[in-house]
Amino acid sequence: MITLRKITLENRRELFRLEVSKEQQKYVASNLSSVASCYVLATNGGSPLPFAIYAKEQMVGFVMIVYGNTGYDQPEMADNNYCILRLMIGEQYQKQGYGREAMAKILDYIRTFPAGPAKYCWIAYEADNIVAKRLYESFGFCENGEIYNNEPIAVLEL
Ligand SMILES: CC(C)(COP(=O)(O)OP(=O)(O)OC[C@H]1O[C@@H](n2cnc3c(N)ncnc32)[C@H](O)[C@@H]1OP(=O)(O)O)[C@@H](O)C(=O)NCCC(=O)NCCS
Repeated sequence: MITLRKITLENRRELFRLEVSKEQQKYVASNLSSVASCYVLATNGGSPLPFAIYAKEQMVGFVMIVYGNTGYDQPEMADNNYCILRLMIGEQYQKQGYGREAMAKILDYIRTFPAGPAKYCWIAYEADNIVAKRLYESFGFCENGEIYNNEPIAVLEL
């Protein structure tokens, strides 16, 4: 059973230690860097929604959802829409179905429109990240032809 839980003073160090494999590091920033970005975004008018991903009581991953401005160059559609800016499952917990179950929970959560109304959720990923691309497509995300910072963008109507 996957749950999305708040990052706390108690679990933050465990989150910072959670890593993807060496080969996957080009696909996602470290959790430490992402949480730092959340702080900067939140203190500059942005709406980051970061969560630790748990399988039962074990922390297995991290997700950073953002509403509106992501703090980076972004497509026009970012305004008033949700972005899954980061998603990772720790190397030792991958290929056990947690990523798929987490995506379902993440989309359920986004569909509660926690930071404001939206029509779309979008994701950008490296073109060669086939595992991520297939996972997102299986939830209905479709590439819209836009390339941002060399990354294709896939969009889901909420
Ligand atoms: C993408 C990621 C979150 C998937 O997490 P996961 O827990 O391994 O995913 P699951 O176990 O739920 O598997 C999801 C699907 O991907 C497939 N898959 C997972 N890892 C795979 C791999 N290394 N090679 C081939 N297929 C793989 C699974 O077989 C499964 O397919 P199915 O559901 O159609 O049977 C994880 O690989 C990851 O953290 N990657 C590095 C960071 C990253 O790329 N994040 C996305 C940035 S946009």
